[in-house]
Amino acid sequence: MKLFDVYPLFDVNIVKGKGCHVWDDKGQEYLDLYGGHAVISIGHAHPHYVEAISRQVATLGFYSNSVINKLQQEVADRMGALCGYDDYQLFLINSGAEANENALKLASFHNGRTRVVSFSKAFHGRTSLAVEVTDNPKIIAPINDNGHVVYLPLNDVEAMKAELAKGDVCAVIIEGIQGVGGIQLPTTEFMKAIREECDKHDTVFIVDEIQSGYGRSGRFFAHQYHGVRPDMITMAKGIGNGFPMGGVLISPKFKPVYGQLGTTFGGNHLACAAAIAVLDVMKEENLIDNAAKVGAHLLEELKKFKAIKEVRGCGLMIGMEFEEPVKELRTKLLFEQKVFTGVSGTNVIRLLPSLCLSMEEADDFLNRLRHVLK
Ligand SMILES: Cc1ncc(COP(=O)(O)O)c(C=O)c1O
Repeated sequence: MKLFDVYPLFDVNIVKGKGCHVWDDKGQEYLDLYGGHAVISIGHAHPHYVEAISRQVATLGFYSNSVINKLQQEVADRMGALCGYDDYQLFLINSGAEANENALKLASFHNGRTRVVSFSKAFHGRTSLAVEVTDNPKIIAPINDNGHVVYLPLNDVEAMKAELAKGDVCAVIIEGIQGVGGIQLPTTEFMKAIREECDKHDTVFIVDEIQSGYGRSGRFFAHQYHGVRPDMITMAKGIGNGFPMGGVLISPKFKPVYGQLGTTFGGNHLACAAAIAVLDVMKEENLIDNAAKVGAHLLEELKKFKAIKEVRGCGLMIGMEFEEPVKELRTKLLFEQKVFTGVSGTNVIRLLPSLCLSMEEADDFLNRLRHVLK
C-alpha cells in the first residue's frame, strides 16, 4: 500500500535523537533548530521522560475517560502551578486542531453565537472549525467554508473594535505569536484592547498557544508578556515532547456539562505520564528561563547579519526574513551544514528548537549560518 503523498519530504531518514541533536540512518549528526516543528520541548530522548513513559506503558498504557485517572489531575496541578492558571480548568485532547475545535465549540455553547474573528496569516489547524479560522483558502475545503469567520488585520485595534461592536461575535481567536504566518507578534495594546472589547460584548477571548506556548517564548505563555488573561488558552506541541497531546485551559466562568465535550484518547495514561515528565524537566532544568536567555542571545546576534532583512521573535521562537526565497538557503543549511530549520511562506526561516538549547549550541548554529550566508 502507498502512503497518501501530501508531504514534500527531505531525503533524510532520522532514526535517533538526543537533546538538540538528531542522527540519520547513516550515522550523520544534525543540529536540530526545528524541534520537529516546535514539538520537542525538553529535548530528544530525555532520560527522565524515557523512564516515565517506559514505566507507565509497562503498567497501564490506556484506559478510558469513564473511570478516574489520577494522572490527569496530576498534570492539571503541576501545569497550573507552573503556568500561573491554577484557577482555570483543563480539558485534555490529542492535538492542536482538536484543542482549537473544542475551545471554539465551548465558546459557542457559552454565548450561543456562531461568528468568529480571526486574523490575517493565522494558522489554527486543519479540522473543520480550526481550518475555517485559518487564513489560508488553499486548505479550506468547500465543506469547511461555512461563513463563520471574519479575518482582520493583526494589531488593527479599530477594525477589531468595529467588528465586536456588532454584538454578535462568538469568539476572537489569536495566536500568542503567529508561527506559520512568519513569526508575527501581537502588540500589548492590541491584546489589551481585545480583552476589553470581549468583556464589553460577551465575546470569548481565545489565545492559541499551540506553537508559542509551553515556555517557548521565555514565559510559559507568550500572551503573559501583555498582562492579559484570555478566557481560554489552547496548547499542544511541547506539552508531550512528541507524545501526541493537546489541552484547553478554561476560565472558571465556564461551567462543565456532562457529555458536552469528550474524547476517546485524550488525557490517556501514557500521554499524562509524558506530560508530567515534561513539566518535571521544565521546572527542574529551568527551561523557560533558558529559552528566554538563549533566545535573547540568538535574536541579538542574528540582528547583526547584514544578509537578513528582518529578525522577529521572542525566546526560542524566531523568524529570519530574507529579501529572496529561502528554499536554497534552508536546503544548504540542512545538507551542507547539517542543521534542521523551519520555514514560513517563501522568505522566512523559522527557528523552533528545544528549550534546552545551550549557548554553545546557539553559537554553533550562528557559525554554521555564517558559512552559508558568506
Ligand atoms: C498556532 C497553531 N495552532 C494550531 C496548530 C495545529 O496543531 P496540530 O497540527 O497539532 O493539529 C498548529 C500547528 O502547527 C499551530 O502552529
